[in-house]
Amino acid sequence: LYRLWPDPDPTPIDDDGLTALYLPADRDRGCVRLNFVTSVDGAVTVNGYSEGLSGATDKYVFGRLRMICDALLVGAGTLRHEGYRAVKLDEVRRAWRREHGLPEYPPIVIISHRLALDPTHPALAEAPVRPIVVSHAAAPADRLALLADAAEVLVCGDTEVDLRMAVDELAKRGLRQLLCEGGPHLLGSLTAADLVDEMCLTLSPLLAGPGAGRITAGPPVSPVRHLSLRHAVAADGALLLRYARQ
Ligand SMILES: NC(=O)c1ccc[n+]([C@@H]2O[C@H](COP(=O)([O-])OP(=O)(O)OC[C@H]3O[C@@H](n4cnc5c(N)ncnc54)[C@H](OP(=O)(O)O)[C@@H]3O)[C@@H](O)[C@H]2O)c1
Repeated sequence: LYRLWPDPDPTPIDDDGLTALYLPADRDRGCVRLNFVTSVDGAVTVNGYSEGLSGATDKYVFGRLRMICDALLVGAGTLRHEGYRAVKLDEVRRAWRREHGLPEYPPIVIISHRLALDPTHPALAEAPVRPIVVSHAAAPADRLALLADAAEVLVCGDTEVDLRMAVDELAKRGLRQLLCEGGPHLLGSLTAADLVDEMCLTLSPLLAGPGAGRITAGPPVSPVRHLSLRHAVAADGALLLRYARQ
């Protein structure tokens, strides 16, 4: 991995250097960070999954971002579709978290409108720390009750999920550095609510061709949100870009 911007540097970036590139300046200041991978022609999936877009470098950064977050946010659709496993960090990353005063594992936070979630799903049932499910007051009561054994259920909003309320509720629990791994509908809603503070985007060196969607989905949003580039690093032809709210 090499830094291209700012200050291009031909010295390879080591583990600590990479972590430093993504660490928040102030952990108490809340941040919603998104992490996505896309092809050069803008596809969010290859054959329906993100796996075909990701390479060793993307996976390495993906793991580092999980290591430094307070909680991992994911849309129920991505959890169901991508076959999410429980978030289990290896010993190196757990040791880093202990040394930095963080709990060993970040909880997973699942955003769902319909609550069509199976409590025996591995991401819930095998989670090393109690997962959190965010829904709203009009969600089916029987599903809410069913999930209450497997997760803490946060009711945010009357008839739909109020994402700003969810971010505030998580902050009250000390979960301020939020890493969201998608998917596109959740990014669309976060953009609409103007909650995206950071976008980490891996550009994979391939053309996926037509067919796949973009990294964002849902109703159009206005006005557009302007971002500024914080860094660009590269490895094996992939570009890893970090953008933040201006
Ligand atoms: N390239 C990448 O980096 C990347 C990353 C993630 C996902 N993906 C791909 O994206 C595709 C999935 O797309 P998707 O848009 O369906 O993913 P998604 O946003 O994770 O899933 C949509 C579902 O998540 C819940 N949800 C999302 N936003 C919500 C909101 N504001 N309020 C309440 N519930 C909300 C709802 O679940 P309920 O139905 O339970 O109500 C909704 O049906 C998959 O093919 C996956 O492989 C790619």
